[in-house]
Amino acid sequence: MVLTEKRVGVIGWPVTHSLSPAIHNAAFRELGLIDWTYDLVPIPPDIVRQGLRELREEGGYIGVNVTVPLKQAVMPYVRPDEIAQAVGAVNTITFRDLSGTNTDVAGFIGDLQAHNVSLKGAKIVLLGAGGAARAAIYGLAQEGAHIAISNRTTEKAQQIINELDIEAQTLTLKQAAEWGAELIVNCTSVGMWPNVDGCPWPDELPFPYGVTLYDMVYRPQVTRLMELAEANGGRAIGGAGMLVRQGAAAFTRWTGHDAPIDVMAAALQDALAAREH
Ligand code: ATR
Repeated sequence: MVLTEKRVGVIGWPVTHSLSPAIHNAAFRELGLIDWTYDLVPIPPDIVRQGLRELREEGGYIGVNVTVPLKQAVMPYVRPDEIAQAVGAVNTITFRDLSGTNTDVAGFIGDLQAHNVSLKGAKIVLLGAGGAARAAIYGLAQEGAHIAISNRTTEKAQQIINELDIEAQTLTLKQAAEWGAELIVNCTSVGMWPNVDGCPWPDELPFPYGVTLYDMVYRPQVTRLMELAEANGGRAIGGAGMLVRQGAAAFTRWTGHDAPIDVMAAALQDALAAREH
């Protein structure tokens, strides 16, 4: 029997660091989808249009994930859905209909729900105002959370609030510490490997007691910020689950199958352990 190879992958520049092949290929193996493969596709930003066309028309690709710095750059060449438009970034393309979506939203909200973190009416502080924060804010607003954003550059936080047209406020970190948040989410890259000593919460500011902390950083799996939250009687959740679940949502769009989340999570753990960070 001749199998038609079904290819998916991740485009970015560079993409060598991506853990997505390990996650997706483990899922294909688990479900017996032996004709599917997920690989790394480096595409320089200046030829993204041509790159997409080649993957679709000549490479026979079913779809791709999109990572930095192409998440915005691909938008003119796909049909972004409502989520992608709101977030202003595409992380998953399906070539069949040239649709673009952003599964970071479902990945983030899904992981919070999997950890039984209640969101409706909850007071939630987000640290950061980049692309990751935008996805988080969009998702949390839909869940009915009470949102405040604390960012190094306050104007960027206010800009997100205006553009997403949501009810939220900006806070300084000092104000955020006293606001009575139930959940604090780190949407900055501070603390990410190799800068593992970094922490978006300043040493001189007491961290609020008993707060749940979600760190979107997944490498290292325990960040300094997570240690700080735990040292102050809080619960800390790392970003590995969000990575797995954004991948799972893309997997389902492409294959039509429910994603084997646990297998994908185990594959991520193995891949992280292999990198010893
Ligand atoms: P992403 O798309 O992954 O969210 P990004 O768009 O570069 O990445 O956004 C990174 C966020 O982390 C920004 O909000 C940035 O703050 P500024 O808006 O002031 O630039 C924040 N950030 C990055 N490094 C930081 C640092 N050392 N301290 C505080 N915030 C930082």
